[in-house]
Amino acid sequence: MTDATGRFCRLEQAEAIDLVMSLAPDSVDLAYADPPFFTGRDHGAFDDRWPDGLASFVEAVVASLAPLATRLTPSGSLYVHLDWRTVHHVKVALDDVFGADSFLNEIIWSYGLGGSGKRWWPRKHDTILWYVRNPGQHWFEAPRVPARSRRMAGQDKKAPDVWDIPAINNMARERTGYPTQKPLALLERIVASSCPPGGVVLDPYCGSGTTCEAAERLGRSWIAGDRSAEAVATTKRRLTAT
Ligand SMILES: C[S@@+](CC[C@H](N)C(=O)[O-])C[C@H]1O[C@@H](n2cnc3c(N)ncnc32)[C@H](O)[C@@H]1O
Repeated sequence: MTDATGRFCRLEQAEAIDLVMSLAPDSVDLAYADPPFFTGRDHGAFDDRWPDGLASFVEAVVASLAPLATRLTPSGSLYVHLDWRTVHHVKVALDDVFGADSFLNEIIWSYGLGGSGKRWWPRKHDTILWYVRNPGQHWFEAPRVPARSRRMAGQDKKAPDVWDIPAINNMARERTGYPTQKPLALLERIVASSCPPGGVVLDPYCGSGTTCEAAERLGRSWIAGDRSAEAVATTKRRLTAT
């Protein structure tokens, strides 16, 4: 669908690899991928069990993202959202695809909620890997956040690579009920900082459509897909309600 300003959106029920492969070279300013986390659980809307083990998970995720090496624009970025279970394995494999020099940041999303444990440190963060197609040519506008130090009281500073953004609570208006939904504030930060105004955002594992809503709010075009019919229906509902 394209609107009067030329902005467009495209939503498909599709395998991530097929959606990415269908895109033209140099056509995506920002890709955000939030695949399953190798939790070994059936979430209902999608199944995160991997009977063939970790290697099969890493291979599937990396295969779906590798074609972005040519689909991103020369100034484009890829953000890959994972957690402690797989991030180190996927990082090593993605370095081989995009080049270790193209890896610019390991972002820690510190979310506060959940993660209790008596016999280990409570797990309270996810990790987001940031790659660019061409380091130095990439588009980036560092967001600003309130400074915490007494010296800078009342001022703001460039956001560092640890992001304190609360997870969605049970009462939040943005909650869709889709499992593993990410907060809009997280996606707004990624879209605003790494996709130029009017640019194109891709999310091939879109779930409830958080990336699509962030792109809409910020005036970017978007392309999204998910293999789950429930994800596509939730995304449609959500965007109609915005
Ligand atoms: C962690 S969830 C994404 C949540 C999303 N970021 C949100 O805010 O709602 C992962 C999604 O990947 C989808 N998925 C899993 N394997 C896939 C594949 N091979 N191709 C496309 N989608 C896939 C699942 O159906 C699920 O919706």
